[in-house]
Amino acid sequence: MRSKKQKILDFVTFPLRAITLFIEDKWGLSCLATERYDYASKEILGNCLDVGCGPNNRFIREFLHSNGIGIDVFEYEGLSDENIVRDMTQLPYEDGTFDSVTFLANINHIPKDRRDSELMEAYRVLRPKGNIIVTMGNPLAEILVHKAVTIFDFVFKTHQDVDLERGMEEGEEYYLTDSEITKRVLKAGFTGIEKKYFATQWGLNHLFVAFKE
Ligand SMILES: C[S@@+](CC[C@H](N)C(=O)[O-])C[C@H]1O[C@@H](n2cnc3c(N)ncnc32)[C@H](O)[C@@H]1O
Repeated sequence: MRSKKQKILDFVTFPLRAITLFIEDKWGLSCLATERYDYASKEILGNCLDVGCGPNNRFIREFLHSNGIGIDVFEYEGLSDENIVRDMTQLPYEDGTFDSVTFLANINHIPKDRRDSELMEAYRVLRPKGNIIVTMGNPLAEILVHKAVTIFDFVFKTHQDVDLERGMEEGEEYYLTDSEITKRVLKAGFTGIEKKYFATQWGLNHLFVAFKE
């Protein structure tokens, strides 16, 4: 969890961070991924399934002290066989296994025709009173950050854009609107949906939390 001083520093430097710090902390500042994990971790109720965890399963390992499992469709660095699930519409877990399920910066990467079935599957593996957490940036901010990371990778010959490394499939998008997220989360059966802003990103990123009754 970030200290108060760190949050003030992150707040003041947000524009600089938004165009240079995507997946690695540097210069005493938090990268955008660290910030999203920090906000999401506050909502977690216990054993967590992180869908679309990305390289190194960072959220579960570093922010939840390994209480849960991260899964991804792609064999990123730092993931092992147990982390790879090619078809997220059929998760290899019993009903009610998890206390929380997260979709961090990735619901837009689920091809459109599979979004509802993946959310329904998340509902199935969640225990009653468990919660789902979905993070998503403001549409314009998402587009600008995606452009910034592409330019950054090109100029500095780095691999900060994890989606470029995997190659985006047809039906993936750069962002999802709040109304589409809300509609799909409710359609999957969740209730009590609430939106919370990331203060240190000037409200340009946010999360939704909703519950299984
Ligand atoms: C922008 S990255 C976010 C990674 C990580 N959750 C984070 O917050 O840093 C999007 C992730 O979605 C994953 N993804 C791609 N297709 C997916 C699918 N059908 N279901 C779930 N995740 C998927 C990608 O492999 C990638 O790891």
